[in-house]
Formats: sequence, C-alpha cells, structure tokens
Amino acid sequence: MKNIVPHHFSISKEQRAQQKGHGAFLIWFTGLSGSGKSTIANAVEEALYTQNIHTYTLDGDNVRKGLNTNLSFSPEDRTENIRRIAEVSNLMIDAGLVVLAAFVSPYAKDRANIKGVVGHTNFVEVYVSTPVEECERRDVKGLYAKAKAGEITNFTGVSAPYEAPVAPAIQINTIETTVEEAVTQILQYIEPKLHTNG
Ligand code: ADX
Repeated sequence: MKNIVPHHFSISKEQRAQQKGHGAFLIWFTGLSGSGKSTIANAVEEALYTQNIHTYTLDGDNVRKGLNTNLSFSPEDRTENIRRIAEVSNLMIDAGLVVLAAFVSPYAKDRANIKGVVGHTNFVEVYVSTPVEECERRDVKGLYAKAKAGEITNFTGVSAPYEAPVAPAIQINTIETTVEEAVTQILQYIEPKLHTNG
C-alpha cells in the first residue's frame, strides 16, 4: 500500500516461536451452525493448554460482537468477516500462537483466501460435516426454527448455501465421532506442526 513503509522490528517471528517452544499455525473449523465446531475447537484448546501450548480461539461469539459487529450475513459481509478473521489469525500466528477459528465460512473461495493470507502450510482445515438434518434436530440456539419460519433470512443450510470443502485435512461427522475422538484425530494431525520452529 502507498506510503506504508514497514518498520524493521528486531524480534523475529522465529524468535517468538522459539521462546514459546512450539510451531504456530491456524486450525480452521468450517461447517453448519450447530454442527459442533466451537465444541470441538474448545476441547482441542483444552488439550493443547495442558501441553503448555499457547493458543487462542476465535469464533462468532467473540468476533461478531466486537471487531465484526458491523457485518451482516450477506455473501459480501461473510466474505469480509472471513477476510478480517484471516488477517487477525495471521497476526496471532506471527505472535507465536496456535489459533483455533470456528466459523461457518460457507464459501469455498473465502476459505481459499485464508490459505493465501496465512500460507498454506499454516492452514489446517477441519470440516465438521454434521448433516443439516441433525443440526436442525439439535437446534441448540433455536435459529433453525426461526429460519424455517422466515424470521431469519440468508440462513446457511436453510436459505443460504454451504459449499462443503472438497479436500479438508480432517473431516468430522459428529453423529459418528465423539468429541474425544475428534480431539485425538486433530492432535495427531497437528503433532508434526507443533514441533516445527519450536
Ligand atoms: S460466517 O458465514 O460469516 O462464517 P459466522 O460463523 O461468523 O458466519 O456466524 C455464524 C453464526 O451466527 C451461526 O452459528 C449462528 O449462531 C449465527 N447466525 C445468525 N444469522 C445467521 C445466518 N443468516 N446464517 C448463518 N448463521 C447465522
């Protein structure tokens, strides 16, 4: 960008990672509302915390209430939502954290952009593929009922599309897989990444 000249900071990303003693990257959970993204992300964070890994979780609750409070659920605003989250994640990776992000992120192109922002080796895509019928049945937040009644428009899975990932690193269907099993699967996958830079 014009007239933006980066200052040369003397502490590098590698030094920050070294100090923390583990690699830094982004675990991105995508899936329908109520699919179990945040539940699994929380359980993974707990497991990492007990291993002294430095983490942070971003989800709709902390991001859409603050940083992205001005964004709706239109396709354009969802794109902007994900773009900002990718940039924030990138800063957190730079700071040396393992970032967990749980967002519906229904558009394949938006998820591809995240990879571009954080770098593809730093991006671990977890598709929580709980079917819409099951999410509707659980309806933890009562939003599917409202969407069906027409009280919420553009609701993913009801009146807005969800483009499923074609080749996610990990896929979890919470009908078949328990939270504990999902955590084990994810921890296994990220194990080598935790030991780079560290
Ligand atoms: S995203 O599509 O832009 O990635 P995000 O993950 O931030 O969505 O927010 C989704 C959460 O907002 C859902 O879990 C649900 O609680 C709530 N929500 C409210 N309106 C909608 C909607 N129209 N579509 C999807 N989720 C909605």
